[in-house]
Amino acid sequence: METENRSQTSGDWEYTLMMVCLCHPFSDKKVREHLSGKDGKKCGMSEVYSTCSGGNKPQCCSCLETLKDMVKSHNKAITAA
Ligand code: FES
Repeated sequence: METENRSQTSGDWEYTLMMVCLCHPFSDKKVREHLSGKDGKKCGMSEVYSTCSGGNKPQCCSCLETLKDMVKSHNKAITAA
């Protein structure tokens, strides 16, 4: 998986933007923004992929493991709360 070597500074946070999907390009930032907008509700991978990719379906599917980990962490944090 390729990463963009672009650093952003937002308040006290500095992070490197990582591209999650290259077929329908979107970054981890876009995924996190979508997940944080769920207001504490669980979500599914297909919904997240569709929203972040602008309504597309995965092509090569090499990003799905990363996306699955992100969604799983989100859903696990909700269950634990
Ligand atoms: S990298 Fe996401 S579908 Fe190919």
